Amino acid sequence: MPELVKMAELSELPPGGSKEVEHDGRIYALFNVDGKITAIDGICPHQGGPLADGPLEGTLVTCPWHGWQFDVCTGKTPLGARLKQTVYEVKVEGQDVMVSVP
Ligand code: FES
Repeated sequence: MPELVKMAELSELPPGGSKEVEHDGRIYALFNVDGKITAIDGICPHQGGPLADGPLEGTLVTCPWHGWQFDVCTGKTPLGARLKQTVYEVKVEGQDVMVSVP
């Protein structure tokens, strides 16, 4: 059963901002895209780079290690359709950023 977990305060995620959160052995990367909060698997599938530390341009984050890019809303990448980062549902309740975790 998915469970909603508080991962941040809204004030920690200004527009264009990001935050890495560890929960239950998984790393999540949270982003604010023009006011919309998103959450994806925070570990780059290439060699494990921290996606929350990469620069965000529009909806595309660039891995700080070797430059792979992922859309933080869809998980898709310009690298090809076979590669997709897991996207997690986000709910904002007041100031709390809640992420639906598996
Ligand atoms: S670890 Fe992310 S591009 Fe290599």
